[in-house]
Parts: sequence; structure tokens; C-alpha cells
Amino acid sequence: MYEDIKKGFSVKENPTILAIESSCDETAAAVITGRREILSNEIMSSATEHIKFGGVVPEIASRAHTAAISLVVEKAVKNANISLSDIDAVCVTYGAGLLGALLVGVSYAKSLAYSLGVPLVPVSHIRGHLSAAYLVDKDLKPPFISLLASGGHTAVIVVKDPLNYKILGQTLDDAVGEAFDKVARVLGLPYPGGPNIEKLALSGKDTVPLPKMLKGGGGYDFSYSGLKTAVINYVHTKEQRGENVDKADVANSFQRAALDVLIEKSVRACKEYGLDTLTVGGGVAANGYLREELSKICAYKSIKLVLPPKNLCTDNAAMIASEGLIQYRNGNFASLNLNAQARVELG
Ligand code: KG4
Ligand code: ZN
Repeated sequence: MYEDIKKGFSVKENPTILAIESSCDETAAAVITGRREILSNEIMSSATEHIKFGGVVPEIASRAHTAAISLVVEKAVKNANISLSDIDAVCVTYGAGLLGALLVGVSYAKSLAYSLGVPLVPVSHIRGHLSAAYLVDKDLKPPFISLLASGGHTAVIVVKDPLNYKILGQTLDDAVGEAFDKVARVLGLPYPGGPNIEKLALSGKDTVPLPKMLKGGGGYDFSYSGLKTAVINYVHTKEQRGENVDKADVANSFQRAALDVLIEKSVRACKEYGLDTLTVGGGVAANGYLREELSKICAYKSIKLVLPPKNLCTDNAAMIASEGLIQYRNGNFASLNLNAQARVELG
């Protein structure tokens, strides 16, 4: 029945979009306008519940989403100063992520869209990260180069139009955020690893010999497993010899090695494709070293850098609304059969 109904929806010029995100350990909801003004952007995290396990425990995350989702959506509607009847579309992350966690958001979004009689818009979390840039620069228009740096993905992409991505290169093994998290564990730092490595790196120096990353030679692909293994070997060898490991130096050296390669490839892609705009998305884009170094080199090379604020780089629902708006305008509506997907294609 809903299959037929969804075809009857009209696309409004300036819709009010509600988005829901529950792919990992953050339950989030946001409201934006068709001009991408953020009216509300709410988030509740179960991160502290996962610390003692050293990573996200899917069952704990799903339970936390179930407890939080109504509250977070209500808050998003209230703080946006709208009522439910003002909502023109309900967008939801359907993948990639933890299945049980995603299902909480997808089920909630389905019932809300159905009860309000508005379209249900399926959104890829990965595309969501990239669409955070449109919230920052309202006049941003493809073509441009995008760097995606998250816990699950690492890629350099040419965005030809808002729906059409060409992947120039991506990780061949671990994603950059994953490497941060694994190295953090070896250094005895708590989850989430990325921000804790960044903090520790501030008091360290780039003195630890680590393998060269696939810069020019690797085309646009990345490989993080060699770097991760080199750090693990370095730490274990030192420990076996009873030598002191300067963890701050390891953190600093690893951070540089892991991030310099992202900077080099993104800037090279801009040059090679003759594009003067670079956008960045994903949790790792919250890293201060990456932000500073990218800002410096882009200023030097006259590349316009669209760098979302940190809270729009890490998981949030405003970015899902931003991508949802693109899908809404394209009439990409889901039926009530929409299912969660652990993996989705990047392109
Ligand atoms: O984009 P995101 O929030 O979730 C995914 O879609 O994967 O990214 C999470 C990743 C984690 O691996 C986390 O350690 C990393 O982003 N991260 C950071 C920083 N903040 C988060 N990595 C380096 N420096 C940070 N400040
Ligand atoms: Zn994410």
C-alpha cells in the first residue's frame, strides 16, 4: 500500500526536514530547512558505556538507542520551534553501521513518516558525512574534491554533482579512524581512540621511525595496516627490551604519518583534476592537526577548503538531513519495507 502512496508525494521547494541517525553509539536527530539552516541538532551518546569494553558493544548501543530515540526526536522538534505537522520529510540513516543500532532509527523513522503522511527518505551515513560540507557553505556546488576520513572509510572522491561520486582512491585495508582506535589501544588509551591520540600527541615529538605511507606512489589509495603494525611492533619490541616507550612521541609520530598522506593526496587530486575546492568529512576531520595543516596548505595553494565544525564532522543528524535534502529533491523515497544495511557502497 505504502509503495503506491510514496509515488504520490510532491517535492516542496523549501521543505522542513527531520533526520534521524543511529548507526553507531550516537542517537541523533536534527531539523533543517530547504536552505540548509540548522534549526536543531540534538545528540545523545552511549560512548561512556562502551569505555570499559575498549570499543562499541552493539547490543549496548542498540539498547541505548531504544531508550534515547523518542527523547532526542522530541527535543529536535521542540528546539527547532516547529510542531510535528510542519515536517515535510523524515530522513533516516539506513546504513552503513551496526545493524541493531540502525534498525532502531529506521523503525522509528518509518512509523513517524507513516503517521505524519510524509515521505521516508533513506540516507547513506557515508554520503551524510560528505554532505556536512553543504551545511557550512550554502553556495557550495560540485564539481569539487572530497576527502572522507571516518572510522569506517577513507577515500578521495571527485563529486561531479550532488548525486554522482567518482572514487579516486580508498583504503585497501583499515580506515584511518580504525587505525587511530587500534593504535590507541596499544598505547593503553581509552575508547574513542582518535581524540585521545590527538591529546597525547600534543606533548610528543615526531621522533619514532615509521614506514612511509603510500603517498605519490600509491595513486590515490591508502593502506593503514602497515603503519598500524609498525607502531605495534615498535611498542612491543621496546617493552620486551624493558625500555621506556614515550607514548606521546609514538602518538605524535603516528598522527603525522596517518594524516600527512590524506593531506597530500587530497591536495594532489585538486591539482590533477583542476578543481579549486576541497571538502572534508568524517570523524577524523575533527582532528586539530589535520585541520591546521589542511588549512595552511590550502591557503598556500589557493584551494578553497570547506571544513565543517568538529561537531558536524563526528556523527550527527544534521549531516543526514543535509544529504536527505538532496535525496528528497531527487524524489528518492523509501517504502515501509526499508531495511537497515550493515554495508553500503560509497559511490
Ligand atoms: O565519522 P565517525 O564519527 O564514525 C564513522 O562513521 O566511522 O568517525 C569515528 C572515527 C573514530 O575512529 C574516531 O577515533 C575518529 O573518528 N576520530 C578522530 C578524532 N575524533 C574522532 N580521529 C582523530 N582525531 C580526532 N580528534
Ligand atoms: Zn560516521
